[in-house]
Amino acid sequence: MSFNTKILDANSPSSISVAASALREGQLVAFPTETVYGLGAIATSAEAVAGIFEAKQRPTFDPLIVHIAERGQLGDVVTHIPPLAMALADAFWPGPLTLVLPKQSTIPDLVTAGLPGVGVRIPAHPIALELLKSVGLPVAAPSANPFGGISPTTAQHVMDGLNSRLPYILDGGPCQVGVESTVVSFMGDHPILLRPGGCAVEELEAIIGPIERAAPNAALDDAAQPAPGMLSRHYAPSTPLIVMARNSEAVSIYGQKCGLLTYGKQPFSGSFVRIERLETSEDLQTCASRFFAALRSLDSCGLDVIIAHEFPDHGLGIALNDRLQRAACRSCDG
Ligand code: TXA
Ligand code: MG
Repeated sequence: MSFNTKILDANSPSSISVAASALREGQLVAFPTETVYGLGAIATSAEAVAGIFEAKQRPTFDPLIVHIAERGQLGDVVTHIPPLAMALADAFWPGPLTLVLPKQSTIPDLVTAGLPGVGVRIPAHPIALELLKSVGLPVAAPSANPFGGISPTTAQHVMDGLNSRLPYILDGGPCQVGVESTVVSFMGDHPILLRPGGCAVEELEAIIGPIERAAPNAALDDAAQPAPGMLSRHYAPSTPLIVMARNSEAVSIYGQKCGLLTYGKQPFSGSFVRIERLETSEDLQTCASRFFAALRSLDSCGLDVIIAHEFPDHGLGIALNDRLQRAACRSCDG
């Protein structure tokens, strides 16, 4: 299906109700969250949700996160919440944390790729919350980019990737967190980290104790993946990307048009066509909020290669390093 995609300014009074009506009618609407923009559809309608997979060209083995406005809606999505999951919800919702919990039968199998668990979160973004309240139903939303590409942190990024594949993009300005939510599964006998993200894993562990890390899953087959966000190649620019160890000198490659993605006082030398320095200190929150936009801008310069400095291995740095590794992995799953 082809649309004349419209960007709705979230500050103008009718935008939320236009977006909410479109969702209720089964259409797709991209909307801002604190992490990245989501591509939303009513989660209880398999037909509406199918539109997400079509617009993103996303394989159906990759499950979607369901968004709700308040705790009262949890019962519409999951059958129960174990105490440790409840403790995390108490501490971090609304926020960049997705909990995978046993799904209600009203959530179509397409949403969870046939898995018994559903990912659910309450986003911490006033526009997202207003929209979800106005819709009154749970909304399934992956990041609003073509499958495997760089997640969008502005309405224009969504337009660049999905123009004509959806009727509306709700523009609430740039996303503050900038990396996707942390995903923790409670489907086994102990919690498992499926994806590091906007909620630092140390902060989660401070509340519920150690969280096992899921093994990286490089295989791409047609069985449902425990967390397809863990596909080795994901969040990928089309330009090859090389990751440099932290504090080692990034040097341009002779005869190649090189771009640099760096931060703080990380050392570099040589001749770079373009340099994206995320932050002059090493504030990881600021780095995260600018990361995907910087990667996109480097990817659009016709470079031969992007050289990127690794981040410190704590807090949001863990999520950023995870995205860098996936962006760098060109041969893992094509
Ligand atoms: O911050 C975010 O999480 C954003 C915003 C829009 O909320 N959404 C997002 O969705 O990043 P997506 O589809 O790009 O990534 C969702 C991740 C994938 O790794 C997916 O496999 C995992 O969450 N996931 C979703 N449902 C799951 C489930 N039932 N079981 C295991 N993993 C699940
Ligand atoms: Mg995504």
